[in-house]
Amino acid sequence: MNRAICMSPRRGTCEYLTEREKEAGFAPVYLRELAFAPCDGCEACSSSGVCRHKDCASVLLSQIREGGKTLFITPLYFCNFPAFAKAFLDRAQAFWAKKEKCGARFYLLAVGGQGEENNFSSAYLTFRAFCIAMGAECAGALYLGRKESAEDITEVDVRALVDMIK
Ligand SMILES: Cc1cc2nc3c(=O)[nH]c(=O)nc-3n(C[C@H](O)[C@H](O)[C@H](O)COP(=O)(O)O)c2cc1C
Repeated sequence: MNRAICMSPRRGTCEYLTEREKEAGFAPVYLRELAFAPCDGCEACSSSGVCRHKDCASVLLSQIREGGKTLFITPLYFCNFPAFAKAFLDRAQAFWAKKEKCGARFYLLAVGGQGEENNFSSAYLTFRAFCIAMGAECAGALYLGRKESAEDITEVDVRALVDMIK
């Protein structure tokens, strides 16, 4: 199954893009609606390969490893993922401990108010590390700058997204 995970805490640009991807067959997931604990570094997973937290993050992380495409749609907050979304990515540590590859393909779409591409480098590095931990392919990444609302999304932006995930 293909999924689009909206990582914004509000109903804005990322939600608009997530809704658009629904039409392209990507099942929407709104991370802000899920309850999960942050990684507390207990290191239980280092030996067991299993996180001791059993919550929505464990379920979703396992589901997206099953295969297909997952598109992560995030706003940039201080050049990275919003805190609650980063907390979700941190939970991949349990899969890093397992060191097993999966057939899933992950894509990142980040939107931000600023135009400079290097604004995005920190989030991209975080995403790469997340893909490695999950054993998934980092199949594409796109930054759309100067986006403060859904009205700033152009047809050129949409085409760039379609090209990335095709
Ligand atoms: C706390 C906070 C931090 C932000 N930091 C950045 C940033 O570092 N770089 C940037 O380009 N935009 C930044 N922005 C702007 C948002 O990324 C931008 O408005 C984005 O389109 C919001 O997407 P959303 O409407 O889906 O939440 C920040 C916004 C907030 C609220």
